[in-house]
Amino acid sequence: MDIIVADNAGFCFGVKRALDLVARAAERPGPVYTLGPLIHNPQEIARLERQGVRGIDSLEGAPGEGVLVLPAHGVAPALEDAARARGLEVVDATCPFVKAAHAHIRTLSDQGYSVVILGDRGHPEVAGLAARAGAQAHIVTSAAEAEALPFAPRYGLVVQTTQHPQVLREVAAALVARGRELRVFNTICEATIRRQESARRLAAKVDVMVVIGGRNSANTRRLHEICAATGTPTHHLETAAELRPAWIEGAARVGVAAGASTPDWIIAEVVASLRALAPDPPRP
Ligand code: F3S
Repeated sequence: MDIIVADNAGFCFGVKRALDLVARAAERPGPVYTLGPLIHNPQEIARLERQGVRGIDSLEGAPGEGVLVLPAHGVAPALEDAARARGLEVVDATCPFVKAAHAHIRTLSDQGYSVVILGDRGHPEVAGLAARAGAQAHIVTSAAEAEALPFAPRYGLVVQTTQHPQVLREVAAALVARGRELRVFNTICEATIRRQESARRLAAKVDVMVVIGGRNSANTRRLHEICAATGTPTHHLETAAELRPAWIEGAARVGVAAGASTPDWIIAEVVASLRALAPDPPRP
């Protein structure tokens, strides 16, 4: 059985940068906290915790003093201010691509546009974007939701970095009819586009796809949707322990894709387990 790993799989630039910042903070004396999951991969978070980095759900978990590392997907400005007010040193690991989206939202808001965010409601990145848009932000997940927005003179559209470009095109087309002016910032990051494209290409030429990454990872869930949409049976897993032999029964080629927050060591474990489940036949 051939096992083919997608060209662009695993950690993106923003996640590597966030982990580097945490590692540097952990070398210093004093407690290091991360607010919410630093990245959306429970196994990598558990590894950091073993190194003494404490994940907290709210600032109450950091009793004062120490370093607070902000997650790669960013937080609301009020939260950052509150952390400093508590005496914590803030290390900003927000991905620069997310920061660019923050800046576009501020520009639109300052210039009086009604801000629309294409993104998953409840995702921390989207919450951070909305917090910068003021009272006017509308969050939509589809063209149908954009079509239902009230008429406004000027709409400005910003996108969660892990969204799908086709959905952006559909939402932008829908918004054209909802106002007199539309300004669009395509803030989908390159790493996302590359991972989606290589996963789609691979899914189209294998018998089974395995997509590795946190179930709380928006970009991994998107990869799963994209691969499944090609018609190839696709399975989402977080670790090698979740692999089922039945998934690859009779498969000649298995493709492996991984989200931007999936570490190389988990990809390697899954590939090794696939290999163990279906070793190559002995060569003549
Ligand atoms: Fe940044 Fe894109 Fe990764 S926004 S965190 S480089 S998926």
